[in-house]
Amino acid sequence: MEATGQDEKLSMEVPGLSNRTQAIKLPIFREVFVLAQTHRAVNLAGGTPDFPPPEEIKAAAMEAIAANYNQYDLGQGIRSLREGIAAKVNRTYGVSFDPDMEITITCGSTEAMTGSLLTVINPGDEVIIFEPAFPTYAAGIIISGGTPVPVKLNPPDFTIDVEKLAAAISPRTKAIFLNSPHNPTGRVFSAAEVRAVADLCLEHNLLVIVDEIYDHLVYDGLAPQNIWRLPGMKERSIIINGFSKTYSATGWRVGWVIAPAAITKGIKIIHNHMTLQAPTPLQMAAAKAVGLPASYYQELAATYQKRRDMLAAGLEEIGFECLNSQGGYFIVARFRKFGWQDDYAFARYLVEKIGVAAIPVSGFYTDPKQEDRLFMRFGFCKREETLQAALERLQKLKI
Ligand SMILES: Cc1ncc(COP(=O)(O)O)c(C=O)c1O
Repeated sequence: MEATGQDEKLSMEVPGLSNRTQAIKLPIFREVFVLAQTHRAVNLAGGTPDFPPPEEIKAAAMEAIAANYNQYDLGQGIRSLREGIAAKVNRTYGVSFDPDMEITITCGSTEAMTGSLLTVINPGDEVIIFEPAFPTYAAGIIISGGTPVPVKLNPPDFTIDVEKLAAAISPRTKAIFLNSPHNPTGRVFSAAEVRAVADLCLEHNLLVIVDEIYDHLVYDGLAPQNIWRLPGMKERSIIINGFSKTYSATGWRVGWVIAPAAITKGIKIIHNHMTLQAPTPLQMAAAKAVGLPASYYQELAATYQKRRDMLAAGLEEIGFECLNSQGGYFIVARFRKFGWQDDYAFARYLVEKIGVAAIPVSGFYTDPKQEDRLFMRFGFCKREETLQAALERLQKLKI
């Protein structure tokens, strides 16, 4: 809306919200979280495990506080954690990164994302996001003065449409966001899809911002396809990850970003002025976490695969049509059998009348159209009894 003279005068007299603040809103998760609490719904909405982190990791956090690791440390993150991350990435993927020059510890991957965007985006720059998309991508781009350019994944399988992606690239495009395993769809993008994104980045000299928070949660023997392992891509990749999901510690707010040395220099400055550093004792515990053996990650993925299967089978039996979730925490399901056309209305009905909270997938679009309102997201990052309780309540949909 054009500002009138009156508006301008008012905003000068009463300091108000910035344009960037007015251009973004709280993600849908907050709204559903409050609704779920009000109605005491079984909560399959959030990406929050309802079980604790591994005992030895909790103990390491408590020991760190008791041993007085309670003061500032290096803003970039404690050295043992950066070294531990470099070693884990090397063990897992066979790629070396320099813990001093290329790794920064942040307050969750959320800060890693917005901080990275603030580091590389100028006003007028465009950043491509695949929608449905985790809402912080578009918000972070706007906060940084850039413009999010959504490219829709093709339903019902939510594949990358390479022609649509190529058509969205303009002279102002600076970067592409890539999240795999993908929230909300559970897609693990194929080698061909990832290759196609990399080719376009190389052709147009773009950065790729890679959200790999679910990289250890890949099912059915699939392998994550890391775009930054392709030739020529490490130099242009900003890799974002964190402790929230892999170690079931979403409240700890510890994440990290791996980026080329020149970009890391900038990220360190932005990070220092935004949060100074991530909490020291929790970084100590995180350093212990990244040293866990390969068996930890195998068991974690196997446990989640079992829960995914349990939830998918239960939802299908009730009448939902589930997209095959290949990775991450979520199943996206169509609900047309129940006669609803609008995912927000259906989500509200589920919470209020059925007692189960789930997320309407249209909340992952900047400008959702009718065809984007036909899917719900259910989380299986829950104990089996929680999933069972949710499925029992959802049985009421059958009557
Ligand atoms: C795809 C994705 N990226 C990032 C985050 C945020 O992670 P963190 O807790 O590290 O900020 C989430 C949380 O749900 C997520 O699903």
